[in-house]
Amino acid sequence: MSTAVAGPCVPPAAVLCGLAGWVPSRVVTNEHLARRLDTDDGWIRTRTGIRRRHVVDAGQATSDLAVEAGRRALASASVSRVDAVVVATTTPDHTCPATAPAVAARLGLTGAAAFDIGAVCTGFVYGLASAAGLIAAGVAERVLLIGADTYSTIVDPLDRANAIIFGDGAGAVVLRAGHPDEPGAVGHFDLGSDGAHEDLVAAGGSRQRSLPGEPSREERHFAMRGKEVYRHAVTRMAESARATLSRAGWKIDDVDHFVPHQANLRILHSVADDLGLPRERCVTHVDSVGNTGAASIPLALADAAAGQQIRPGDRLLLTAFGGGLTWGACLLTWPALPAPAPAYIPDDQGERTTS
Ligand code: UT7
Repeated sequence: MSTAVAGPCVPPAAVLCGLAGWVPSRVVTNEHLARRLDTDDGWIRTRTGIRRRHVVDAGQATSDLAVEAGRRALASASVSRVDAVVVATTTPDHTCPATAPAVAARLGLTGAAAFDIGAVCTGFVYGLASAAGLIAAGVAERVLLIGADTYSTIVDPLDRANAIIFGDGAGAVVLRAGHPDEPGAVGHFDLGSDGAHEDLVAAGGSRQRSLPGEPSREERHFAMRGKEVYRHAVTRMAESARATLSRAGWKIDDVDHFVPHQANLRILHSVADDLGLPRERCVTHVDSVGNTGAASIPLALADAAAGQQIRPGDRLLLTAFGGGLTWGACLLTWPALPAPAPAYIPDDQGERTTS
């Protein structure tokens, strides 16, 4: 396949040229949760900064959100064909097969390479690096990368520590082959992992077969040791951000917007403080969507771009952290997109609230 090569000896970079997000229309507020859990709005807001989250209806799955976000991202990029579809998710429709081929087929992209990435909440940054690799290697000229998760399908609704944090959603970007120096080129990645702490965030999987009898309810559900995860999240996101900035030769003052994985407002502010970044430069909408896993960075970008909080020429630092443990960061200068990022909340059905 031919690519728009950047120049002699310079492999093409992955350049962001389309963006969109999508969340399901059903809203669950803190007050709704307080009706069925021993919690309250004040506790949730103080500890997490979250006011509400969107969750799927029965019968809706991760691919349904991924397809909506993907369709809008393709429209935003004004393209109808890509060479690869990558879905970062912890909540695939099925353990087997991957979700990406089905998403590709539903988007009319049958024939494109399609695979999932499992790096929990770091999945989108790992996905950016993978897409950049496909483009640099000449395997793909255009990649649709979608971060999508439906944690409401794996979190125990009676687990007050986790049910308050997560929301469902999808965010998608289109990346095309371009020049490393042009706006939108993603680069200077830092990626890492520490599997010694795999038990801090866990759900499902083949290990359950070694247990006698049926897996218990707790084993099937998502489990997280929040306090420990919190500490690792702050340290790892700050370290990864610093490593990336140093690799690129950027100073902290060069960063116009810091776009972290939307884990918890206190975590985001702690990372910003650790880096010496004014908190106002931290892009967040965790208050209105909660922690949407692999979707959180592209959703936050879509929201900020739609609201013109991020403008062409602004310099962005993305950083993420998730189960695994995994972490990562990268930099880009915001491009002028062919079409503006569309609104990410369904407007056709209106917003429905529910407990
Ligand atoms: O995206 C992947 C990365 N994941 C994360 O970033 C999550 C990181 N962790 C967190 O965000 C926080 O640890 C939580 C929000 C999960 C919890 O906040 P915390 O400040 O670490 O609270 P804690 O776990 O230390 O719990 C403090 C108290 C406990 O009661 P006692 O033992 O002090 O009596 C909990 O039982 O708060 C209690 N608690 C609650 N109370 C009211 C736990 N959940 C709730 C709740 N409502 N929903």
